Amino acid sequence: MNITVTYKIAKRMLESTGEALSGQQLADEFGISRTAIWKHMKELEEKGYEIESVKKKGYRIVSIPDTLEPITIQIGLKTKRIGQRIEYVESCTSTQIIAHQLAQENAPDGTVVLTETQTAGRGRMARKWDSAAHKGVWMSIILRPNVPPQKAPQFTLVTAVAIVRAIEEVTALQPKIKWPNDILLNGKKCTGILTELQSDADGIQALIVGIGLNVNQDKEDFDLEVQGIATSLKMISGQTVNRQELVRAVLFYTELYTQMYIDEGFGMLKILWESYSTTIGQPVRARMTNHTLEGIAEGISDDGVLQLRTLDGKLHGIYSADIEMTN
Ligand code: BTN
Repeated sequence: MNITVTYKIAKRMLESTGEALSGQQLADEFGISRTAIWKHMKELEEKGYEIESVKKKGYRIVSIPDTLEPITIQIGLKTKRIGQRIEYVESCTSTQIIAHQLAQENAPDGTVVLTETQTAGRGRMARKWDSAAHKGVWMSIILRPNVPPQKAPQFTLVTAVAIVRAIEEVTALQPKIKWPNDILLNGKKCTGILTELQSDADGIQALIVGIGLNVNQDKEDFDLEVQGIATSLKMISGQTVNRQELVRAVLFYTELYTQMYIDEGFGMLKILWESYSTTIGQPVRARMTNHTLEGIAEGISDDGVLQLRTLDGKLHGIYSADIEMTN
């Protein structure tokens, strides 16, 4: 059974928006026999698609499985670049590793890597990222913006705004951003972003934007050591969230806002970021590799650097740190 043909048939059926398509029509369109079409229907059923076979009318897809396979994402995806190519694997070490490899092999701008589970998901500062199977969105986006390397860090902030907008659109939740890249619900982390750079003497070759979004986990789906600090959209809203819809929304807003950043700069997005931030105006402790600073987080600069004013009145630019609220 050629699985690519199975998916092409499924795509055709989904695009017929609920109308049944006859076995003969599908057979003619795909240049195969009606028996072959029937076998493809069985294959889809085995993959979790619910197919209604209407007498004299044909086949209709009634529901699709909860997976992040390209076909389930690309139907209804309203982007021009991001997600036009999706690489999907059921399981992997880390989508970042696959995306880096693809970027080196010249994968186009907007290529997305999606998986159901990671065995070595990684976070910032070499931390491990918990990636429960089929419960979250574990994805990496390859971007190839034509901007100088010093403009790279803002992509993390812009992506954070995109994810907050996507969560707001798909659920009734109102997430907040903790500088630089944590998305919080009720003070606990539901999303992390890890932006990695491939560059050479000519500038940025690729940005690999890794997104870990906790969607449908229950508390016990998280490793014990993060249970106190992590949460999921389901844990806060009390409802299972459609991961496919969420991925489409994240891709849509990421394309919209990264393009806005490339075309118009950080101005408007900085205002949006600050409106979603829990950090700004708050007393915080910033832990850097070698030292810690305490003060008030006054804002972020145009290049995304956190502005922290310590008790002695000095203003410090923080490029990378772990932030803790102290109030
Ligand atoms: C952080 O908050 O520390 C960033 C977490 C980023 C996790 C995502 S999950 C998809 C992608 N693959 C990885 O290995 N990491 C990122």
